[in-house]
Amino acid sequence: MTGVIRPGEVIVDEAGAIAQLHGIGVQRVGDRFYAWGENKAAGSTFTAVSCYSSTDLATWRFEGEALTAGEGDLAADRIVERPKVLEHPDGHFVMFLHIDSADYADARVGFAVADAPAGPYRYLGSERPLGNLSRDIGVYQEDGVGYLLSEDRVNGLHLYRLAPDYLSVEAIVATTLKDDGSHGYESPTLIREGGLYYLFGSDLTGWAMNDNMVSTATDLAGPWSPWAGIAPAGSATFESQMSVVVPVDGGHVYIGDRWTPDDLRTSPAVWLPIEIGDGVATLRWRDEWTIADLRGAAAPGDDA
Ligand code: GAL
Repeated sequence: MTGVIRPGEVIVDEAGAIAQLHGIGVQRVGDRFYAWGENKAAGSTFTAVSCYSSTDLATWRFEGEALTAGEGDLAADRIVERPKVLEHPDGHFVMFLHIDSADYADARVGFAVADAPAGPYRYLGSERPLGNLSRDIGVYQEDGVGYLLSEDRVNGLHLYRLAPDYLSVEAIVATTLKDDGSHGYESPTLIREGGLYYLFGSDLTGWAMNDNMVSTATDLAGPWSPWAGIAPAGSATFESQMSVVVPVDGGHVYIGDRWTPDDLRTSPAVWLPIEIGDGVATLRWRDEWTIADLRGAAAPGDDA
């Protein structure tokens, strides 16, 4: 069975609860997609990172809280956002987090590890990568090398290479700015398709949505192209802020948040197929769709 995705609605899990998949990270592990999200039960401050899994990106099984509030960086009055996970080549899982104080002044990246995708994750600590501010993050992996995308509003959006154990940042690979040079984009995500890298980002407007952008390069180190829109100009990316672009069999899926600041827990999700090729990324609205619509490909684990 392939479930239907309705952009602009909340995601309801198999048990009928609103899935806490805000600021989501997604990875395919075996024949399932795993997703980690901000549990916004308490609003903007930290409750937990929730984990879910699915075969069709529509039907979500709650796998438990992967990381829960505790002390220090993980205290309940802190900000813990945008959980992103990479499977290390050694077979364990590393979670990256935006770690902050309630006034967003700390601006650090945190690291946690687990033996299984759903965790539970053991929190190791946080750093300012190479001394830089680090707020919204994204991750990328190629040939066993891990990369961290991180927004630093002094210097720009950094692409860092991670150390071999993925538990610290080793070097800057590239730093990008908006075309007007004012600052870098945030909520970054990176994919590779057809010999090109596509770097996506959102402008710095807090919980308000804006027109999200894409830049391309043939090398991770750049040069990166001027930024281009991905959705109709002025649509604020169909009223959403991207979190990730997920490669799936037959195409790519854009996943964004339609933040409702007064009740973040019930923020709807905007999940849409995104067409990517020849240096262009295009998002078109659909009221509903299924993963099987992506060029007719079957969902992983779907033997129908
Ligand atoms: C956005 C960011 C969100 C959240 C929000 C708080 O810029 O992408 O993850 O931090 O600000 O205002």
